[in-house]
Amino acid sequence: TALAAALDALPKVELHCHVEGTMRPATVVELATRAGIPLPTTDVTELYSYRSLDEFLSVFWLVQSTLTGRDDWARLGYESVLDAAAHGRVYAELFFTPARHLTAGSRLRDIVAGLDEGFAAAEAETGSTAMLIADIDRAFGPSAGVAMVDELGDLRRGGATGMQRVLGVGMDSTELGIDPASFRDAYRLAARHGFRLTGHQGENSPPSAIATLVDVLGAERVDHGLSLVADPALVARFAAERIPLTVCPNSNIRIANAFGSLAEHPFPAMRSAGLLATLNTDDPALTDLDLGYEYASAADTFGYSFDDMVTIALDGITASWLPADDARALR
Ligand code: HPA
Ligand code: ZN
Repeated sequence: TALAAALDALPKVELHCHVEGTMRPATVVELATRAGIPLPTTDVTELYSYRSLDEFLSVFWLVQSTLTGRDDWARLGYESVLDAAAHGRVYAELFFTPARHLTAGSRLRDIVAGLDEGFAAAEAETGSTAMLIADIDRAFGPSAGVAMVDELGDLRRGGATGMQRVLGVGMDSTELGIDPASFRDAYRLAARHGFRLTGHQGENSPPSAIATLVDVLGAERVDHGLSLVADPALVARFAAERIPLTVCPNSNIRIANAFGSLAEHPFPAMRSAGLLATLNTDDPALTDLDLGYEYASAADTFGYSFDDMVTIALDGITASWLPADDARALR
């Protein structure tokens, strides 16, 4: 439709997107073949199949395992920004989750330098910018989180290549049975090193876990925050304080199986409650999404006008960690 085309072209920012989740299936197959990593299938249409968050995370980890060196990260960074720019994304704060690679012997400085190189090349071609958020992988436990943040601090102090892109620290992976407060040391250290703070919560955990993320860990934003709607008092507080939520409606349907259809998603309820709820894709390649479709499907399903969608896009800028001058230039 004309509205879908206009929303695809609308300049948009994205605050919840995992760089590994943007990897083209053909690139996964190529890198796996080169590195001798066995895949369950080399059929690019079959590679990304799963029926739950946990099955999804297994595929996500398989994709991650094909990234074995700096050049692989550079290629991923390049293709990732190119693919998103084709759907109107002008600025992004992208997650990367290096726990698995660090355990396997990769160096954090090589991952950051590789992504920086790929981003810079794609930016030169498209004008679309990407920054980074280093995510703690909850599955690896609190001490691995502290170690990653400690190393990030060292790299930043040492002026390592690409570290100017790393704006913040977040946390992702499984939520089940994990108290976010157990990551307080890593978050405190990240704040001391001057990193901005966010975290995945409420995709698969109750509203109390979202409150802990903000009140105990000091997160400035909440990634997903879906379960918040079950606690009206907390919704009212988050609305009053304008605490941003980076919501990923189509991901919630395709990955978390949280709703039967987009029409059942609480995104419009979140918006009308006054929450600063932004629109994002999460893992666009793994879910066969793009940011243009995310906007077009929201407009179509929730009955939003083009102007409504512009307001949502502007809220993305407000929720971003862009310096005030850069944010103004995007508006
Ligand atoms: N949830 C948790 N961890 C993730 C996700 C997600 O949706 N995507 C990539 N890692
Ligand atoms: Zn996510």
